[in-house]
Amino acid sequence: MEKRSVTVAAVDVEALERDAAAAVAAASTPEELDEIRIRYLGRRSELKQALRAVRDRETGMTLNAVRERLEAAFDTRETELERDQLAKRDQALDVTLPGTQLRRGRLHPLTQIRREVEDIFLGLGYEIIDSREVETVWHNFDALNQPLTHPSRSHRDTFYVDDDTLLRTHTSTGQIRVMEQRDPPIYIATLGRVYRRDTPSPRSTPNFHQVEALAVDRGITLADLKGTLMHFFRAMFGEGRDVRMRTSFFPFTEPSVEFDVTCFLCAGKGCAFCKHTGWFEMGGAGVVDPAVFERVGYDPEEWSGFAWGLGLDRIAAQRHGIPDIRMFWENDLRVLRQF
Ligand code: PHE
Repeated sequence: MEKRSVTVAAVDVEALERDAAAAVAAASTPEELDEIRIRYLGRRSELKQALRAVRDRETGMTLNAVRERLEAAFDTRETELERDQLAKRDQALDVTLPGTQLRRGRLHPLTQIRREVEDIFLGLGYEIIDSREVETVWHNFDALNQPLTHPSRSHRDTFYVDDDTLLRTHTSTGQIRVMEQRDPPIYIATLGRVYRRDTPSPRSTPNFHQVEALAVDRGITLADLKGTLMHFFRAMFGEGRDVRMRTSFFPFTEPSVEFDVTCFLCAGKGCAFCKHTGWFEMGGAGVVDPAVFERVGYDPEEWSGFAWGLGLDRIAAQRHGIPDIRMFWENDLRVLRQF
């Protein structure tokens, strides 16, 4: 049977709706869709004119139903087109992942270790001191009871600026400066760069970092020293580390010791790193020599103290299993990016 199109108020509504729906589907931009909307639903459109001319209820209802369906079709298509446009713009901005990566900077491994060390001391209630690097001979040697004949005073071992001035060879100088200025009790950690005329090797560089602790109070003994060292190394390298002391000599401490720590690589079992002893040499320490207290005006009868010092670079090397501390100074990004 021939399909008859419905003609209402002289308008072929079926054809109109079909044409409009096809045009809506074909619109490729919101602007195009707007033009089509005006053509089919605008004030002068066929549909609106027919609606205006409506006299009977049935025709009105038919035309209004067409109008509503078309409006809905326009709205749906509009949302679709807007979504497409947004998607295209996002592609132009390339917010897809991964984007072009910016390389973030990071702290040098020595700086990271230095901050960790500072945190451990702050946790113990110590104050952090970074004194000057250019020092007087008096603060670097004389005040520390260093004999005039000691080889470390020679120009072959130490960088001199002039006869009375040098680049500090250890951070003990900062301890002298603090003791000159303040009365006990004193709990400080001095840390920073130090200089010695050493030939660069896997275990030493002419410029390196030290951390030294100084505690001055009433009744301080070697046991306090050992307890503090143990706490420090357990915080640094994990529980189960032990500290071993061997008698030694420093002009500024009496008695003096050198201390070893359980090798962090083999946990004390013995490996090539610790020469199969299970221990790793860490630094020097001792009970502050009364002669040093006299130099800074403290009464050695009333006050006693301990001091210990070690190289930060070696701690960092141990921590990361770095076989050659010169790597910390070469600034090779392939190395530094790994920390
Ligand atoms: N100042 C010594 C050094 O640089 C280390 C040390 C510090 C030793 C404190 C004893 C006490 O080698």
